[in-house]
Amino acid sequence: MSESTEDQRLVSPMDWNESETHTDQNPEQTLRPSFLGEYIGQKKVKENLSLFMEAARKRGDSLDHVLLAGPPGLGKTTLANIIAHEMGAQIHTVTGPNVEKKGDLAAILTNLQPNDVLFIDEIHRLQKTIEEVLYGAMEDYKLDLIIGQGPAARTLRIDLPKFTLVGATTRTGLLSSPLRDRFGVQLRLDFYPVEELQKIVDRSAQLLQVEIDPSGANEIAKRSRGTPRIANRLLKRVRDYAQVRGSNIQGQAKVDRATAQAALKLFEVDDRGLDPMDRKFLSALIQKFDGGPTGIETLSSALGEERDTLEDVYEPYLIQEGFLQRTPRGRVATRLAYEHLGEIVPDSV
Ligand SMILES: Nc1ncnc2c1ncn2[C@@H]1O[C@H](COP(=O)(O)OP(=O)(O)OP(=O)(O)O)[C@@H](O)[C@H]1O
Ligand SMILES: [Mg+2]
Repeated sequence: MSESTEDQRLVSPMDWNESETHTDQNPEQTLRPSFLGEYIGQKKVKENLSLFMEAARKRGDSLDHVLLAGPPGLGKTTLANIIAHEMGAQIHTVTGPNVEKKGDLAAILTNLQPNDVLFIDEIHRLQKTIEEVLYGAMEDYKLDLIIGQGPAARTLRIDLPKFTLVGATTRTGLLSSPLRDRFGVQLRLDFYPVEELQKIVDRSAQLLQVEIDPSGANEIAKRSRGTPRIANRLLKRVRDYAQVRGSNIQGQAKVDRATAQAALKLFEVDDRGLDPMDRKFLSALIQKFDGGPTGIETLSSALGEERDTLEDVYEPYLIQEGFLQRTPRGRVATRLAYEHLGEIVPDSV
């Protein structure tokens, strides 16, 4: 994914806490719920998971392999950690593109204890040859290693403990079907409604000891693109604003609706949670391409942004909120997009 824009983008759902420039001390860790009971929203996903986990625990067995799909920042990594925690198991985390050799994966697999969770983030970016090693490990808990070279080479079959593979991906469509089919549990996370995001903001505010009233939490929730990671980030930036420019000056910053609105206006996050990049996407489509239909590749070069980033990060929310349509002939700006940007709506839309 392109780092450039995502690095600076306040409403980016990408996890840029890893970047050195970020000053808050590992906030993802402190704000991350550790139990299913603390995990807000995603009712269906939680119901399913808790049922399967309970059944596995009763059988004294490992949980079946779980595939978590959904746009960035909705809580896939959090869920993977919760699964391990609730199953009383260790979690081992790797990222798809970082597993470079078969041997890397073999080392990880042979170090697992029974019932452990192996979390592979961005599993769709795993190399094909490495993916193939996973098939046998997932299905039969066996690992075939080739020892030696040429005519002397032989295969060594190693038994693995029963473990749970948790895979996370931004789009299930990007996964090869043999891999996808080996996940017994497949769950999809959706954008959060405002009420749930408001609860997340409240919870995080408590943990961060930020004083916030319901109107302030609601304003932040409304502008968070349906994404908990963005809600947490906006909360922190609004807190900063309140500390410096807030009305309640006694060292204690209080966040109310007016403060949140003023802060988010300064940060150019509008009342629908769209930021300059979202608006740039829509206005390019409207102004350069008469509202579409326009192919994703064309938009990608017009905006100087990678196709994957457009599809994984920008589009899902714009589509869900009705600003954009994905048609077989390309992307189309909706009436709402014209209205939101203050453009004259042509008769054809
Ligand atoms: N349901 C939830 N309840 C409370 N907080 C949540 C919830 N989901 C996510 N969060 C918060 O949002 C942050 C981002 O979540 P997480 O890192 O799990 O996202 P992700 O889906 O793994 O994203 P990515 O695809 O970028 O890895 C976490 O730090 C956590 O505090
Ligand atoms: Mg993650």
